[in-house]
Amino acid sequence: MHPNTHHSVPPHAAVVGLQWGDEGKGKIVDLLTSRYDCIVRYNGGANAGHTVQVGTERYALHLIPSGILSKGKINIVGNGVVVDPEKLLDEVDGLRKRGVHVGENLRISDRAHVVMPYHKEQDAALEELLEKKSGKLGAGQIGTTRRGIGPAYSDKVRRSTALRMGDLLDHALLLRKLETICGLRMAELEALGANVTPLVPRELADRFAAAGERLRPHITDTVYLVHDEIRAGRHVLFEGANACLLDIDHGTFPYVTSSNCSTLGIPSGSGVPGRMIGKVYGIMKAYSTRVGGGPFVTELLNETGERIRKRGREYGTTTGRPRRCGWLDLVAVKYSVMVCGADAIACTLLDVLSGFDELKICVGYQRPDGTITDRFIPDAERMTGFTPVYETLPGWERELTACTDRDDLPREAQSYLAFVEKFVGIPVELVSVGPERTQTFESNQRFASMA
Ligand code: IMP
Repeated sequence: MHPNTHHSVPPHAAVVGLQWGDEGKGKIVDLLTSRYDCIVRYNGGANAGHTVQVGTERYALHLIPSGILSKGKINIVGNGVVVDPEKLLDEVDGLRKRGVHVGENLRISDRAHVVMPYHKEQDAALEELLEKKSGKLGAGQIGTTRRGIGPAYSDKVRRSTALRMGDLLDHALLLRKLETICGLRMAELEALGANVTPLVPRELADRFAAAGERLRPHITDTVYLVHDEIRAGRHVLFEGANACLLDIDHGTFPYVTSSNCSTLGIPSGSGVPGRMIGKVYGIMKAYSTRVGGGPFVTELLNETGERIRKRGREYGTTTGRPRRCGWLDLVAVKYSVMVCGADAIACTLLDVLSGFDELKICVGYQRPDGTITDRFIPDAERMTGFTPVYETLPGWERELTACTDRDDLPREAQSYLAFVEKFVGIPVELVSVGPERTQTFESNQRFASMA
């Protein structure tokens, strides 16, 4: 019997970040992977970074679903992803060097859009231009990962200047498209004030057709593939990249990424209707972090923030940037739970909060005019000047890294999770207290009923 049938877990599920990314999704996906047959990425690109620790080995994955680290899974890079083919090949090579099998277990949509070198140049040039203009992050500049994500999605929407993975398999077609694109792109780069190195269509066509040849065995129509798998009774896990509050439509616009990284991106980004997904796991870090600019009501620009950063090793997987740190913002989390339709929370990095006398949780926002709201506003301008309304909870001293069961947790840590459950209205089903596979446990009973 399939393990999911056994546990009466609905057959297809999704994992999504409920904050601004870096919630530890990779680890939870890795943990849940044993119950699923296919792992599907549906959005984002190499801006995402999953760190998965298996024993003493630490893997940083950007484009490949973390299911690649488990034997016998099909890992799908869906049509909603933007793929940097050379980065993907580096990732493949890196995994193979470490003995991880990458072959028929990796499938890439022929309709996923391609991130080209000029996209990365555009991304950097626009950020630099805005930085020069405003002088500081947050005044126009988004603080992107400079991985070319925004410009690649812009080309997708613009259509006539887009390249898809399937195009890399036809040199003549690729060359023809690049002949149109290159001239236009150089003019655009020049307008952004970038140092333009000439874009030579043939050179780019040769280089990316070569990457396409290496990826040919993996490139396919993943929409039929995933539906064939579903019809054959296999179970699918959708792995969100980035996180709900970075969603282009539902995040803190414009300080967001360029895709629908909430679960709402699953249907368009994978070709699977939303109603086929029976369970959504929302991943919530026990505190908040974000990288780049944008509103962050509970940000701690003090020693407490620094302490969280150090204990949580809060430096970007993709860019190495120190992350902005703050207390848990449940107004934001509750909003993400609503938008993503999350059924359960996986709380990660709870161990980082040991050693604080007291802990604060944000339960409302005070507007500059003094009024209070419990609603999130997915618009940076309209969140200006908001300050947090906190509840204060007792902290705990003990390190949690050796806890293997919810009953092992200090009473205060259980109360912290009970508070989350009551406020957000869904159970905390998974708790993670360290980077290793073994440092996560399930809780079938609500913390709220224990406290
Ligand atoms: P972009 O996706 O590179 O365009 O960056 C847009 C914003 O999203 C920036 O603030 C990035 O730091 C942030 N971002 C994108 N992907 C991630 C992620 O996986 N984790 C955390 N932040 C991210």
